[in-house]
Amino acid sequence: MLSLTNKRIVIGVSGSIAAYKSPDIVRRLQDLGAEVKVILTDGGAKFITELALQSISQNKVHNNLWDKEAELSMGHIELAKWADAILIAPASANTIANISSGKACDLLTSVILASDAELLIAPAMNQQMYKSNALQDNLNTIKNRNVEIIDPEYGDQACGDIGQGRLASSSEIAEQVARKFTNNKLTGKKVLITLGATIEAIDPVRYISNHSSGKMGSALVDACIESGADVTCIYGNISTILNNRSNNISANSAEQMHTKVMQNIKNQDVFIACAAVSDYRVKNIAHDKIKKDNLDLTIELTPNKDILADVCKLEEKPICIGFAAETQNTIENAQKKLKNKACDAIILNDVSNDDFGFNSDENEVYFLSKNINQKIAKNSKYKVAKKIIKIFIKELL
Ligand code: C5P
Repeated sequence: MLSLTNKRIVIGVSGSIAAYKSPDIVRRLQDLGAEVKVILTDGGAKFITELALQSISQNKVHNNLWDKEAELSMGHIELAKWADAILIAPASANTIANISSGKACDLLTSVILASDAELLIAPAMNQQMYKSNALQDNLNTIKNRNVEIIDPEYGDQACGDIGQGRLASSSEIAEQVARKFTNNKLTGKKVLITLGATIEAIDPVRYISNHSSGKMGSALVDACIESGADVTCIYGNISTILNNRSNNISANSAEQMHTKVMQNIKNQDVFIACAAVSDYRVKNIAHDKIKKDNLDLTIELTPNKDILADVCKLEEKPICIGFAAETQNTIENAQKKLKNKACDAIILNDVSNDDFGFNSDENEVYFLSKNINQKIAKNSKYKVAKKIIKIFIKELL
């Protein structure tokens, strides 16, 4: 089932009569679950209004590279980073030529150069222009850069000609965008992921927990599903939405999470321990709400079992990836954890930096294993998750 849930798509609308179809493409992308932002080139604006695209996308339409106000709110670099995929539909011959030669002559071409997002191009133009050697050479150059070309259809054209050059259908374009996020590198693999914060009760009202939102883990669930894995997700307290294609099992306390993991670990190929599990629980949970008085209150804590370490000790152990949230001597501490827990890789999170990590939509991590020490630069948690899974598939599978 194709999906664009939680995906951020930038659609570039350039100068072709087919631009009148672009609001429908935005709709089809939204139908698959995407959030869409539009860049309208000067040529595109001759065929479709900014207002139409703004109303449909429910976002401000971007069109000017030199707009001081736009740069203050969401400039071209932020837009480039925001996008998980950039789609140009319709792509005019002029825009294709600019992309082919690496120009940054307007907002759209600048965003493309500044982004590491997937790029898809849906050409639409007169059949003779489409056939021309120059256009075909430009498309080949772009294809060789791993860009997806969504071929135009054959048929009647607005100019009266008949031939290939009609923009592909809106639903086909949206589906191609969704397909770009999927591969079968984990097809047939079973992955179990823990995520979110555990909750350790003090009394019926209070508890001990932590700042984990579950967003990093849920991005890993998405990335594994998009690579074809069969994912089981055991989640604690979260402030994010879980993928409905994973088998989602809730677990409150560390003890419950340990039990649920052990019940489900058999036959798993991969275990990713992304949950922020409480190291301690309250030794004697009060049956009734503890009353306030003026005396000091001492709550005795006892250690929880280490889920990751216990999975690593299993006779038929899956490939195990742990997380390490550190504030000092980060690499050194994470390397120790890799060794002590006997896992195959540790994803190191420096949580002393307020710019990313806990509760944020962005993260910056290191992928550490016996042979790898690779930084994954600050980006959306989804893009960081995609990179983690890419390295994992290349190096550990
Ligand atoms: O030892 P520390 O808590 O820093 O290790 C973090 C890693 O271990 C994370 O992957 C976390 O999910 C896992 N962990 C666990 N069970 C615990 C504590 C941590 O699985 N009780």
